[in-house]
Amino acid sequence: MTQLNTASARGKLPLREYLERMTLEEKIAQLIQLAVPFFEGASDDGQITGPMASLGIDGHTVRNAGSVLGLAGAQETINVQRMHLAHNRLGIPLLTMADIVHGFKTIFPVPLAIGCSWDLALAERSAEIAALEAAVSGIHVTFAPMVDLVRDPRWGRVMESTGEDPYLNALFARAFVRGFQGDDLAGNPDRVAACVKHFAAYGAAEAGRDYNTVDVSERQLREFYLPAYKAALDEGCEMVMTSFNTVDGIPATGNVPLMRRLLREEWGFDGVLISDWGAVKELIAHGVAADEREAALKAMKAGVDIEMMTSCYAKHLSGLIAAGEVDEALIDEAVLRILELKDKLGLFEKPYRAADPEREREVVFCDAHRAAALELARRSCVLLKNDGVLPLAAAQRIAVIGPFARSGDLLGPWSWTGSQDAVVRLSEAIRAKAAAPDAVTVADGCGIEAAPAEAQWAAAAAAAQSADVIVLALGEHSDMSGEAGCRSDIRLPQAQLELVRRIKALVPGKPVVAVLFNGRPLDLHGVIDEADAVLEAWFPGSEGGVAVADLLYGDANPSGRLTMSFPYSVGQVPVYYNAFNTGRPQGAPDAQVRYVSQYLDIPNEPLLPFGFGLSYAAFEYGEAALSADTMTPDAPLTVTVRVTNTGSVAGIETVQLYVRDVSGEVVRPVKELKAFRQLELQPGESAEVAFELNERQLRYYHSDLSHTSDAGAFVAMVGPNSRDVTPLPFALVK
Ligand code: NOJ
Repeated sequence: MTQLNTASARGKLPLREYLERMTLEEKIAQLIQLAVPFFEGASDDGQITGPMASLGIDGHTVRNAGSVLGLAGAQETINVQRMHLAHNRLGIPLLTMADIVHGFKTIFPVPLAIGCSWDLALAERSAEIAALEAAVSGIHVTFAPMVDLVRDPRWGRVMESTGEDPYLNALFARAFVRGFQGDDLAGNPDRVAACVKHFAAYGAAEAGRDYNTVDVSERQLREFYLPAYKAALDEGCEMVMTSFNTVDGIPATGNVPLMRRLLREEWGFDGVLISDWGAVKELIAHGVAADEREAALKAMKAGVDIEMMTSCYAKHLSGLIAAGEVDEALIDEAVLRILELKDKLGLFEKPYRAADPEREREVVFCDAHRAAALELARRSCVLLKNDGVLPLAAAQRIAVIGPFARSGDLLGPWSWTGSQDAVVRLSEAIRAKAAAPDAVTVADGCGIEAAPAEAQWAAAAAAAQSADVIVLALGEHSDMSGEAGCRSDIRLPQAQLELVRRIKALVPGKPVVAVLFNGRPLDLHGVIDEADAVLEAWFPGSEGGVAVADLLYGDANPSGRLTMSFPYSVGQVPVYYNAFNTGRPQGAPDAQVRYVSQYLDIPNEPLLPFGFGLSYAAFEYGEAALSADTMTPDAPLTVTVRVTNTGSVAGIETVQLYVRDVSGEVVRPVKELKAFRQLELQPGESAEVAFELNERQLRYYHSDLSHTSDAGAFVAMVGPNSRDVTPLPFALVK
């Protein structure tokens, strides 16, 4: 590959010289990003053929486009790059970008599941592996990490995020960026550039409906939604993607205050800003541009460098410049940023970068990568209930029943490069554990959404009757979450609830374990109340079947902790742990019977809170203590607690520290995660955790947007989740 790279590079000019030599058309072409089929439809004589003719631009422009989306495969990218360089007058290499969100061929658990591991090192490693597999397959940039804070499980894209907490999301954002990029993109072609998305606040879509309006105050934006994007940029993330939504009334893709003032000026971001798919043209549907010309004008003014998948720039930028409405200097800035990224990636010297069919065969989906995916999958599953039925014993006769018993649909909606054929099915993995594999019977019972057919039910009933324990493999099809995968009813589909009911009626008292494969927190009524144990497996990736079997049999001990609350029912949504108290909180000493902030029909609390998860070990918390009852800016406090594993197996506990500002200048959340520590404890072992808590951690955005702390009363809280905490009052003295 080195030879191929050397033979093809033409020798790099200083970047500004490219700008001087480029025609306006060549510059504008750099700002266009199209998906692979467009390239394939561009012929040598400059025509665009086939369905892509609707684009309204000529084939030369397409052939000279600065970047391509969704191209993968070493040989294919080499071919496309070779063709591109043959067409490009100045020999400017093509940039390849793709959504490598949680793995390339080795698929890791979905990001929401990775979040539940609370393990930043494993998250970083997953991104590093994804980067390597993508890089040898010819990809230069990944459209990841997605760091949108999420509170509404109706929104299908919650599975792409690490959850509802700004602090944790920021830590994961950094870990993913480090994993994807490493610290030397040019020097290490096995990494790819990261593109943090979707800027900004895409996760706050009203009513959990994708692409819907976002309208949050600037304080909310800064306090909850922005920290993870900022953290990614502080870690050196090379690119940013605009979101589809409005931010304070202006679609992000044409939003000058957001993009020019905040992102570029305040945060100093000088990397490439790309629109999301079609988002420039969507300025028309949003109602802020009359036509494609105005959409191009607004996006360019906002500083969007690359237009993804529409042709407003290609068709209108030169006219806008001729009319004096767009300064050519803006185009030059955008082109320069794109050339700088190509340069950082070393593409001028090595246009094929790490693309290498031989290495691709060697490293992609190799054993070491699969082992890492297995480890993370084990760490991502969350045990939600266990009435003593788990772990299973090898001698037990098991019936694995449900539409996920032998399904390969464990990869999640963002795994277009992964293969379901390579996924070990849950039933196979369970069979491999059983002392007598033929004592494991398997039946679908019903479809994901299709009610039990007669024969299906008969097989499921027979399996259930002959087993000691029933494992129900249930969940959502991967299309039921992800982009445009929103649901208003977040229970399992009726067909599966019906299956659970029938099984329980058929063999009352027989132990039932439910394993859930899904992309969002669900309303678990009809499952958690029926089953004796529930394991939330999310979409656990290539090795998910094996990981779940390991956990069910106690060959691994569940240690995942929820990073997004599971609502009691959809009527509570959005429900999240870091909410405000209101003036009439439930349970206050002087609360009235009726006139408090509550529902008449359901509790206020979520069914399962942020931070929650069970283990086969038993962790006992000693008395938590503060080193002093006052803190000053120069004298931090230490919060200590001793945790003992009183169980009979080793396990991992995630000790969590929360804080409440009791009397803020503006209202403050009832709890905010400030730190956590993971302890691996052998049976009988105990360890003391000491968290330092300082004044900087108590700062927040005030009404004038200053980021400061308030002197006065606070409460520190320590515990195993956001609900079961011990309060420790203290004061900040300034
Ligand atoms: C649209 C999605 O919103 C975004 O996340 C993705 O990166 C782009 N499509 C490109 O596939």
